[in-house]
Amino acid sequence: MKLLIINGPNLNLLGVREKSIYGETSFDAYMEALRREYPDVAIGYFQSNIEGELIDKLHEAGFSYDGIILNAGAYTHTSIAIADAIAAIETPVIEVHISNTAKREEFRHKSYLTAVCRGVITGFGLKSYELALRAFL
Ligand code: DQA
Repeated sequence: MKLLIINGPNLNLLGVREKSIYGETSFDAYMEALRREYPDVAIGYFQSNIEGELIDKLHEAGFSYDGIILNAGAYTHTSIAIADAIAAIETPVIEVHISNTAKREEFRHKSYLTAVCRGVITGFGLKSYELALRAFL
C-alpha cells in the first residue's frame, strides 16, 4: 500500500510550536517511528505552507496513491480551493487533526474539507495520523 501524508501551514513547526496543544515531537521523528512500525507500507510525506503547493501535490498524488492523509492546518477552515482539489481526485483522502478542533475556538469548528473526505480523525495528537493509516489498511 502506498500512502501520502500531506501537512499544511505551520505543521513544519511541530515540536516547537504551541507544545501544550501540538506536543513535543517533531514530525520528522514521528515519521521515522511510523515507517519503522509499518515497514510494509510506503509512506510518503509532503509539507507546505503554501495553499497552491498543497493543491498541486493533491493533483499529483491523487491518481497514483492508494490513500492520502491530509492535515491542512488552518486551510481546513478557509479553503474551498483545497476542498475542490480533493473532490477532483480519485485517491480517497482522510482529514486529520492533532488537536480536537471542536473543543477549540469557534472558527476551528467549520471544515470545508470534511464533506469531500472519506472520513475525519481528530484530537488524538500525532496518533491521529497512525489511526488514519490503519483506517486505510
Ligand atoms: C490543526 C488544527 C487547525 O485548526 C490549526 O490551524 C492547525 C492544526 C490540528 O492538527 O490540530 O494548524 O489542523
